[in-house]
Amino acid sequence: MPAAAPTLALIGAGRMGTALARGWLKAKTKRQIVIIEPRPSEEVQGWAAEGRILLNPPALAATTMVLAVKPQQFAAIAESARAYVGPKTLIVSIMAGVRIAQISRRLDTSRIVRSMPNTPGSIGKGITVFAAAPGLAAADLNAAEALLTPLGEVHGPVDENLMSAVTALSGSGPAYLFLLAEVMAEAGEAEGLPRALAQQLARRTVEGAAALMAASGEDPEALRRAVTSPGGTTQAALDILMDTGGMPRLMRDALRAAAARDRQLSKEAD
Ligand SMILES: NC(=O)c1ccc[n+]([C@@H]2O[C@H](COP(=O)([O-])OP(=O)(O)OC[C@H]3O[C@@H](n4cnc5c(N)ncnc54)[C@H](OP(=O)(O)O)[C@@H]3O)[C@@H](O)[C@H]2O)c1
Repeated sequence: MPAAAPTLALIGAGRMGTALARGWLKAKTKRQIVIIEPRPSEEVQGWAAEGRILLNPPALAATTMVLAVKPQQFAAIAESARAYVGPKTLIVSIMAGVRIAQISRRLDTSRIVRSMPNTPGSIGKGITVFAAAPGLAAADLNAAEALLTPLGEVHGPVDENLMSAVTALSGSGPAYLFLLAEVMAEAGEAEGLPRALAQQLARRTVEGAAALMAASGEDPEALRRAVTSPGGTTQAALDILMDTGGMPRLMRDALRAAAARDRQLSKEAD
């Protein structure tokens, strides 16, 4: 039975689903948010207690349904998710590796947008790329974009074949930056800094450099060159980081592994 207000049903409120819902609530969406989650966190239960969302209501045909379960869980939950899919429901998946055709087959609809957001979306600083099923109307693409916009920038529709590389770069990318802060702190500690100071310096350096890049609008390469005096300390470090086998090579291998894992998840979702 269709609900009166546009209903946004989120299936799976884990790390990413919760980040999305946080973004929607922060943006004060006018849609009724419905969350389907067998083990809701305290945060999600709090939203339900405050009347900001509906938690695990009986089946209804959602205006939009966001699939945010693990790719490996999708096959198992598809049958119950169908209870929320009506003929007009627009499906927006954020699952890595699950292709539009696979979602279409399991949910028996062709109204599907496959997207890849990232976790800075929870504070409106994310970036999302999406691919769309052929035949979706411009209004559907606009609706998907509006849903994703509270999370930050949105790009799409792109060819679905690009989604593995997108996942490897921006979907998984925030973790690479957190790792950078971690290993910089460890290296600072190894150079004799107290642990707490090393962690604070690494953290603020990553935050400050990202903020500077955002504020200046300059290319990262130009910013790097501007802080690298020939023969100086930064140059000495970059000679190591940019050497053969250094960061360019490591990042290339890392993204290739992430993209390969995405393609593997596609096979497992069949
Ligand atoms: N993490 C990221 O940065 C990121 C970025 C972009 C996209 N993604 C994609 O986002 C999706 C979710 O990732 P995640 O890291 O948020 O995983 P996660 O934390 O494991 O979230 C999945 C959630 O779905 C729940 N769930 C399981 N069965 C369900 C059912 N029948 N109905 C409703 N909910 C159910 C899980 O509950 P249980 O824990 O009880 O199983 C869990 O809370 C993945 O497909 C991933 O590819 C993640």
